[in-house]
Amino acid sequence: MELPWAEPYKIKMTEEIFTSSREEREKWIEEAGFNLFNLSSDKVYIDLLTDSGTGSMSDKQWAEMMLGDESYAGSQSYLKLQKVIQDTLGFPYFLPTHQGRAAENILFSALLKEGMVVPGNSHFDTTKGHIEFRKAHAIDCTIEEAFDIDDLHPFKGNIDLNKLEEVYKTHSKEQIPLCLITVTCNSSGGQPVSMENIKAVKELSDQYGIPVFFDAARFAENAYFIKEREANYKDKSIKEIVKEMFSYGAGFTMSAKKDGLVNIGGLLAMRDEELFRTCGNFGIIYEGYITYGGLAGRDLGALAQGLMESTEYPYLQARIHQVEYLGKKLMEYGIPVQQPIGGHAVFVDALKFLPNVPRAEYPAQTLGIELYKEGGVRGVEIGTLLADRDPETREDRFPKLELLRLAIPRKVYSYKHMDYIAAALKNVYERRNEIRSGYEIVWEPEILRHFTVKLKKK
Ligand code: F0G
Repeated sequence: MELPWAEPYKIKMTEEIFTSSREEREKWIEEAGFNLFNLSSDKVYIDLLTDSGTGSMSDKQWAEMMLGDESYAGSQSYLKLQKVIQDTLGFPYFLPTHQGRAAENILFSALLKEGMVVPGNSHFDTTKGHIEFRKAHAIDCTIEEAFDIDDLHPFKGNIDLNKLEEVYKTHSKEQIPLCLITVTCNSSGGQPVSMENIKAVKELSDQYGIPVFFDAARFAENAYFIKEREANYKDKSIKEIVKEMFSYGAGFTMSAKKDGLVNIGGLLAMRDEELFRTCGNFGIIYEGYITYGGLAGRDLGALAQGLMESTEYPYLQARIHQVEYLGKKLMEYGIPVQQPIGGHAVFVDALKFLPNVPRAEYPAQTLGIELYKEGGVRGVEIGTLLADRDPETREDRFPKLELLRLAIPRKVYSYKHMDYIAAALKNVYERRNEIRSGYEIVWEPEILRHFTVKLKKK
């Protein structure tokens, strides 16, 4: 019998999580203004709000926390991180930041002006926020297959080269400071971008003189999918694939809270020395001196170690198989999910799941609330609330997909937890036809409303 794969680690420490009754949860979610972000963690049994900063660190990462050198400038922990970024990721210059959006803030402060455009594949919400805050525009060039949840395209994060060229042809070089490839593409379902597509985007962008940057939050998971799904790469190591992927970029922003395997941290890396100097000045104003950037020395050490561990195949195999296990279980129950299953999360199609809830009453949010009430499982809406209003018309803008994301923290939950989540969602699915109304907004901020919006039952 062929031996199955199993996790390449054992567990040294556990953390209590809290069960509750349906009655308690119904009361708590109402008090929270029907916003799952407003629930304190003791009111949640299984927390799938995000895979960001919620993972477990390894013993070697915890050892780095103890070894952390807290020197203001040029700490040993910084030098460890520098070595990983230069040798493993392949960029000569970098700035640590306190998280991914801080790296975006620095890069866009250096490069982006009012009226410019940034093409890419379904920009993440903070990225779009930073772009629109500067009165510039994020243009989504994702392939159309990404918006059909049943399409089995292996790389639904890919950029449509025709859409991208259209942007390049209709704007001057000065209007396009960069093209941004998000790996994996969170907003379209944790879907990967192929090496072939990355190369093609780089070639096309070179013709028009536009630099390519990565939003590299889940770069290692993307490399895993390239190894699994792109024939030329099946014999390459994850580290080789990562190095090649990044070789096509002028730089990256990274939320290290995902594939950096740390609870806090971000990175901005680049090849160009002059850009590094400009960004360094913004970094000092916003984050801290260039060798710590808003992080403690111990955080830098843990991140250096995390990047080495997340780029190992057995870790990624265990990680991605667990997410896939949950996705397949939901599919067995007939629940409509984005396919193929993405790297960090299962995305449930709320429009198909709750066809009786009007679009204007936020079906994905409604589904998230139902799942919480059913089993104390907290997911997150990736739909109309997240998409914010159109900055000019102030109307709701309805994205092509209305999803509930169940993001799986790294190395945190067991396969039994996955069974529990699937059973809770199945119970909601069985009574889906009785769910006929959603929610309306009582209060919302101007942008990034999903974090703080308050709702009431329709
Ligand atoms: N880019 C991507 C693709 C992301 O998924 C995130 C964060 C960021 C940038 C911003 O990074 O949070 O460190 O400032 N995503 C989290 C999520 C919040 O839940 O998907 P950050």
